[in-house]
Amino acid sequence: MDNRPIGIFDSGLGGLTAVKEILSILPQEDIVYFGDTGRVPYGTRSRETILKYAKQDMAFLQSKNVKMIIAACGTVSSVAGHMGDTLPVPFTGVLKPTALAACLATQNKRIGVIGTTATVKSGAYQKAILEIDADIQVFAQDCPLFVPLVENGFTSPDSDIVLSVLRHYLQPFAKAEIDTLILGCTHYPILYRAIEKVMGKGVFLVDSGRETAVYAADILEKNGLLSGRAQKGRCTFYVSDSTEGFAEAANIFLQQNVQQTVELIDIEAFSQTHYVN
Ligand code: DGL
Repeated sequence: MDNRPIGIFDSGLGGLTAVKEILSILPQEDIVYFGDTGRVPYGTRSRETILKYAKQDMAFLQSKNVKMIIAACGTVSSVAGHMGDTLPVPFTGVLKPTALAACLATQNKRIGVIGTTATVKSGAYQKAILEIDADIQVFAQDCPLFVPLVENGFTSPDSDIVLSVLRHYLQPFAKAEIDTLILGCTHYPILYRAIEKVMGKGVFLVDSGRETAVYAADILEKNGLLSGRAQKGRCTFYVSDSTEGFAEAANIFLQQNVQQTVELIDIEAFSQTHYVN
């Protein structure tokens, strides 16, 4: 048993979709979440920058005495996931659990992947899927307008704006005849119902937040790290830009009111004083 918190990070709000799933599977766990809201988005940045940010984010969470680190960010998981192997605590990104779930779900061995430009360009999802089953065909598409849609509250499956952006990016999948689509960015589950409407019920959507939560719970259990607490845990959120409005936004992403505190952290200053470059 271990009552230390689980550390979770993302470039911004998207990782809260994974927090929501963890809260439902492991309600007794404390969570320390870092949302790098001052430097979001990561998905349009270079590999070097994403590596640097991921290293700083992981170092910050380690300073909070966490028992596990989860990169709840498709971009970090794809580009910098290997950095988790050097941590002194268990680590998972969203890539492996999501790729595994998609491979188990597909019947016709045709899987689509959507994510940020950096995620798709890295080829990491394609590689992970082919390592599991070399007979699977993977069709990947970056959707750079999805994150701004979500961050600006355009998520309704009845909105013409949402549907027209989604159709623009998802149209190529119609020809590909996929039966499974990976939502490879943690912002995308917020668009779940709209994506489902555009893709049709015949395509199974894999939510990276949910799959990662199940996977992380399994790691904690196998390592004897589950909390022994009987009551609900609490969430501490750190953000690198204004805390104003964060609690409200968090509750929209989490779809519930959680016991929480929100604090501002200067991640650049933290990295300098802790010699993380
Ligand atoms: N949540 C991030 C991801 O999963 C997307 C946002 C960004 O571009 O930083 O990739």
